[in-house]
Order: sequence, then structure tokens, then C-alpha cells
Amino acid sequence: MVYTETTVARLVTERPGRSRVFEKMGIDYCCGGDRPLGGVCAEKGLDAEVVAGMLEAYDLGAGAGEQVDWSQASITELADHIEEVHHGYLREALPRLERLVERVAQVHGAEHPELVELCETFVALKADLEAHQLKEERVLFPMCREIDGERARPDPYRTVNDPIAVIVGEHEEAGVALARLRELAGDYEPPAGACNTWRAMLDGLAELERDTHLHIHKENHILFPKASAAEATLAGRQ
Ligand SMILES: [Fe+2]
Ligand SMILES: [Fe+2]
Repeated sequence: MVYTETTVARLVTERPGRSRVFEKMGIDYCCGGDRPLGGVCAEKGLDAEVVAGMLEAYDLGAGAGEQVDWSQASITELADHIEEVHHGYLREALPRLERLVERVAQVHGAEHPELVELCETFVALKADLEAHQLKEERVLFPMCREIDGERARPDPYRTVNDPIAVIVGEHEEAGVALARLRELAGDYEPPAGACNTWRAMLDGLAELERDTHLHIHKENHILFPKASAAEATLAGRQ
């Protein structure tokens, strides 16, 4: 396959484990993923052939990471998977990370004021993500499952595209907050002399970033386009 001509989002849809290469190179496959790899590399001053080589090496040695092509799954399977794996992860990780971030800010914040801002940014992101996933679980995903089961009655005044637009906007905000956290946390590289709590916080935040990028990718690029297309098909039949 020609990696450089394929969009970054498509490359991850086919093989979610490829997201690790993009995370490593700082390539956004999430909210900004709808562009061909070649163009993205040119913009970032990266050698596209080198990145394509990394993807090829990853594909040849694939086995690590998630390998399911979710574009082949049904809307309901995908919504169930996202709730179970990614929402489940957030429910467990956010409170645990909050305790770490608060402790590190308390102990080291006087000497490292960026850790205080990191704590504030994290607490705001946590509240946003919790409200966000409730909206998905209570409003948007049930609508997607109704469409999938053909139980939805298409209504031009109540289309799935409306909550999707709100949710996609919130994904962009989460992406900005995650980028700010990375900046405040020095790219998640532990500084010399960082204590174990600090290191655990950095590991945990890096994991949060990885999981949330993949999570948003599955929603923005797979689940929502499928639900929107299925709703249009249903409407066309009536
Ligand atoms: Fe979600
Ligand atoms: Fe979401």
C-alpha cells in the first residue's frame, strides 16, 4: 500500500496499533487526521519516507497493539466496544490520575509552578471528559444503536448529526487540553531526580493521551460517519 497517499486516520482505522508510530512522531491522527500522510509530514518537516518505513516495519512485526479493523464492525458493536474499553478506561484512570497530579503539585509545585497549572488543566479536562462521556452514553450512542437496529424514525428536526457536531467540537477541546498537558509535563520525559509519584503521573498522563487519541479517532472517523450514513439510508427509504 502507498502509505504517504493514504490519510492518517485511514491508516489507523485499518490497524489501530499504527497509532503508536504517529504518537511517537507527534502526528495527529485524531481531530486532524483527515489528511494524507505525505502532506502531514511535509507540514511538520518530517521525512515521509522515514515515517512510511516505520509504519512498514510496524506492520511486518505487527502483533503488538490492537489489530482489529473497526470499520468492519457494526455500529452497535463499535459503540459497545468504545463504552467498554475506552469509557471504562477513563472511569478507572481519571480518579487515579487526579490523586497523582494533585499530590505532585502539592509537593513540588512551589519549585515547579508548571505542575500547578498542569493540575488545574487536568482537573478541568477530567470534568469535561466525564460530562462528555455521559452525553455519549445517554444521548448519542443510544441514537446510534437505534439507527443500527432500524428502530429510528428519521426526522429532519432530530438528526444524529446535531449531537455529533457538539461531540466533535468537544473532542477538539479535549485535544487542545491534552496538548497543553504534554507541554506542561515536558513531553512526559521525567526530569532528573523526579520521584516515583512524579514518574507514575507522567506515565499515566502519557497513557491517557494515547488512549484518548485512539478513542476519539474511533468515534470521529468510524462510528459517527457510519451512524450518519445509516441514518441517511433509513431516511431515503421512507
Ligand atoms: Fe467516547
Ligand atoms: Fe467522545
